[in-house]
Order: sequence, then structure tokens, then C-alpha cells
Amino acid sequence: MDKLVIQGGAPLSGETRISGAKNAALPLMCAALLTREPLALSNVPHLRDVTTMLRLLGQMGVKVSRDDRSGATLHAERLAEPLAPYELVKTMRASILVLGPLVARCGEARVSLPGGCAIGLRPVDLHIKGLQALGAEIEVEQGYIAARAKRLTGARIVMDLVTVTGTENLMMAACLAQGTTVLENAAREPEVVDLARCLSAMGARISGAGADVITIEGVASLHGATHHIMPDRIETGTFLAAAAATRGRVSLHGADPAILDAVLEKLREAGAELESTKDTISLAMKGRPRGVNVRTAPYPAFPTDMQAQLMALDAVASGAATVTETIFENRFMHALEMQRLGADIEISGNTAVVRGVEKLQGATVMATDLRASASLVIAALVADGETTVDRIYHLDRGYERIEEKLAQLGARIRRVN
Ligand code: UD1
Repeated sequence: MDKLVIQGGAPLSGETRISGAKNAALPLMCAALLTREPLALSNVPHLRDVTTMLRLLGQMGVKVSRDDRSGATLHAERLAEPLAPYELVKTMRASILVLGPLVARCGEARVSLPGGCAIGLRPVDLHIKGLQALGAEIEVEQGYIAARAKRLTGARIVMDLVTVTGTENLMMAACLAQGTTVLENAAREPEVVDLARCLSAMGARISGAGADVITIEGVASLHGATHHIMPDRIETGTFLAAAAATRGRVSLHGADPAILDAVLEKLREAGAELESTKDTISLAMKGRPRGVNVRTAPYPAFPTDMQAQLMALDAVASGAATVTETIFENRFMHALEMQRLGADIEISGNTAVVRGVEKLQGATVMATDLRASASLVIAALVADGETTVDRIYHLDRGYERIEEKLAQLGARIRRVN
């Protein structure tokens, strides 16, 4: 199993390029199921989750071609069985995103329930309730969601809590429904906006994406389109947090500062100097960062997917800070691993109190999920001596060539197996 071996202490310095967003790419690939014509995506990141999704879509009969760079064309002219099997869904929750498009296009679908997940319970009840409101008959049997509908019909759906993939699933399904759908309390995440932009290019009639009420007027069919995937705001935030923790100076190209306000604000509060152009963010951290309090919440507030990385920054900052997680229960596993590196973190319920220490010390730590592993890499970059981050396959789900990009910025990092 691959590991990363990191010699800490080198400040990150230099430039690198941000990849396309994983959490935009996955729903966008599922959108290809909605049309018989090809959907050509560019800026597709090379990630394990992307490969898994392509495999899942391939099994359903979607023809996939990738070019040498970051383009992928998905052609769902004819679909075989509309089935998402447990073996694939269990490795990637985002597989649930095929449910809405399949029911809308094929009139039926069988998708495995995602099951347990390292960062909490994460049910999909709102996806199911929403599709039922659109007229689908749904049964949950033998661990599978079996959905059926001759043609979905538009409805007003009020979601009790903000769910990103739930909003995306229902928005895709509603594109081919008869009549108008109104999604209330919709997720406002930029990835929802990117998906709406692509669906609109495919002929969908969507308004309000990016606000909490999205209106979709159903159409009889969608057509092919080309779409450039937005930059990954979490990869961007991760590199910025790493640069701040190591007291470095970096410029990230191909980024979008307009969708990172909450994260940039926290980094500024920690003492970082930040400058942005339309697609570049530069950060310089002189001296020791200051601890900053963080509370996660749906966009535009601070993202749960950046919580662990900010905790790593707080771990070496001056002063004490609190980190509160409001989206997922059980998303503090990285704290226990950071303690192995000498961090002073106390957890009580959904809040962690982090008292910054002068120095972390290298040790062997184990990644438990995608963002947890990113936070351990940051902690390793500042720790004295050598740190081995084990189970790096979690990191490969969501970071493209991370060790190459970090090495380009001067990190002493290598992959071993
Ligand atoms: C997406 C992101 C993930 C991010 C998360 C929160 C993708 C592929 N993944 O995940 O990286 O961490 O948003 O920003 O985009 N919930 C329910 N019932 C449902 C659905 C969700 O109770 O039917 C709850 C969840 O348990 C959680 C909260 O709602 O507590 C938010 O989850 P949700 O936004 O759905 O997360 P994902 O879409 O799975």
C-alpha cells in the first residue's frame, strides 16, 4: 500500500497549477446520462474517484474517451442496465449521483445504498424523498434503492437540510421532468452552479443556481455540449493552508479566488498576506501563524472539506483556537493522528480545542479519509524529522499528483510502497 514519506521543515515556495474540481467533475460526468449525444468535458482531474465514476458509467454502456491531457468525452447513446452495484458505490458515495439522471432518462434505476462512511452516517433520505416528490416510486430492498417512473413530473421540494449531492441529483432529474420543479433550501455550492451551467448548455432550463431556490422547467430531451470544469477550491485551499503552515510563499494558477472567500478570510486572520488576480492566488506567510477559530457550514460559510487542513494550521499556530464541525459527525479522526505528531488537541462533541505548539515531531500516521489525509500531509510538512503518511489511497481519491505538486514547491516528499 502506498505511503508518503515527508521530511518536514522546508517552507513551500514557488508556483503550481490547480486542477479541475473533483466535486464538480463527478456530477458533471453523471449529467452525460441525461442525453443520447456526447458530453465533452475539459479540465477533468486525474483522480481515483473520477476513474471509479468512469468505470461505473462504462458498465452502464456509456462510451468514454479520454485524451492525453484532461479532456473526457462521455457518450450515453444507448444505456444497458441502469444499475449501480454495491462494489462500486461502497468505494464512492458520489455514485448516488447516477440515480436522478437514470430515473429521468430510463424510467428506472437500481442503485446500491452507499452504506457507512468514515466521516459519519451520511444518509440519502433527501435524495429519495425528492425523487418521490417528482413522482418516482421507490423501494429500498436488499440494500438497493429501486426507483421507477414513466415520466417524472415537476414539483415543489423543500429540503430539510442543505445537501450538495441531493440538490445536484434532483436538479438533474428535474431537467427531463414534465413541468416545473422548484428546489427550496437548495445547496449554494459553486459545484452546483457549475453543474447548472453545463446542464443549461445541454438545453436545460434552470434559474437560481447559486441561490437557495432553484427553478427547473423540464424539457423533453437534452443535447450534447462541451464544458470546462471549474477549478478545485478545496485543492486550492489545501495548498494555501500548507503554504501558511510552513511559513512559505506560493502562487497558485488556474484557481478561482471568487469562490474561496471564507477560507481566504481565515488565512488572512491567521496572518497570511494574500493577493489575487482573476485566476491566481498568491500567499505569503511571514512568521508564525496565529490560531483561528473555524466553524463549518454550507457554502458560502467555511467548508467542511477544509476543516482538517485548518486544524493542521492551528496545531502549529500561536494561541488556542476552536474548530467546530456542524456538517458531519465523526469528522475529527485526523485530530487523533495529529496528536501522534505532538499536536495539542482536545475534542468535546463537535468542537476541537487546538492549542498551538512550537513544533510537531515526525512519526508514522494513518490517513482515514480524503481530507484527513491532506491535513496529515500539512502537519508532516511542518514537523521536525520524517513523517510517514500511511494509506495514501485516500489522498489519491481527491488530489491530482499531490506529491509532484508539493515537490515542485520545494517539499521533501516521496511516495513509497
Ligand atoms: C458533498 C461533497 C463533500 C462535502 C459535502 C459537504 C461531493 C461529491 N461531495 O457531499 O465533499 O464534504 O458535500 O459540503 O460533492 N444528509 C442527510 N440526508 C440526505 C443527504 C445528506 O441527512 O439525503 C446530511 C448528511 O448526513 C450531512 C449533510 O446532510 O450531515 C450534508 O451532506 P451532503 O451535502 O449531502 O454531502 P454530500 O453531498 O454527500
